[in-house]
Amino acid sequence: MLRCDIITIFPEFFREAFDYGIIRRARAAGLVETEAHDLRQWTSDKHHVVDDRPFGGGEGMVLKAEPIFAGVRELTGCSNREAYSPQTRVILLSPQGRVFTQALAEDLSRNASHIVWICGRYEGVDERVSEALVTDEISIGDYVLSGGEPAAVVMIDAVVRLLPGALGNESSATNESFSQDLLDHPHYTRPTEFSGLSVPDVLLKGNHAEIARWRRAAALRKTQRNRPDLLK
Ligand code: ADE
Repeated sequence: MLRCDIITIFPEFFREAFDYGIIRRARAAGLVETEAHDLRQWTSDKHHVVDDRPFGGGEGMVLKAEPIFAGVRELTGCSNREAYSPQTRVILLSPQGRVFTQALAEDLSRNASHIVWICGRYEGVDERVSEALVTDEISIGDYVLSGGEPAAVVMIDAVVRLLPGALGNESSATNESFSQDLLDHPHYTRPTEFSGLSVPDVLLKGNHAEIARWRRAAALRKTQRNRPDLLK
């Protein structure tokens, strides 16, 4: 069982996020548990303030350290990174993180039993969170979101579908894009003719060696066109 605790100022964002498809089934099967926690519950002032102006000046607001420390302490039982169990990961979603990959999704799905996801907001998060609490500071790509919430949904989806038993067919995660060196090959289904567009003949003839050869060549062409960086 993988336990996912999300620390956010928008817990409502996650209300239905995990209620669809594979992730819903994985929850129903008891493979994963997800819970979104309102960061404001860990403030101690009357107005539940979670952000403040940056030292040194500059634009925007910074998420304060104390509520995040209190939240991580409550959810993990620990006040610093060194005290976590080896199966506990605390992930900060931020555009300053290292870029999320399928390899990290596989690592988390195999090795973690408890993940705390901290959703950054505004111009940033007090750096002491990274310094003392976070095991992995992760960006989902080289673009800036208004907050870490969509990134947490993306990462949780990618991790949960890799949990043993989450996919109907255990082999279906090993053939797809990024598990090997190429993008996945193209797929077609019925009808064979549609609006003047036809399915490649080789796929209709049942010669499995030919089909495998065609798929490899088509995957190469697609990788060359869309992701030439993968071929280097
Ligand atoms: N927060 C803002 N931008 C982000 C990104 N690209 N990845 C993760 N968290 C973010």
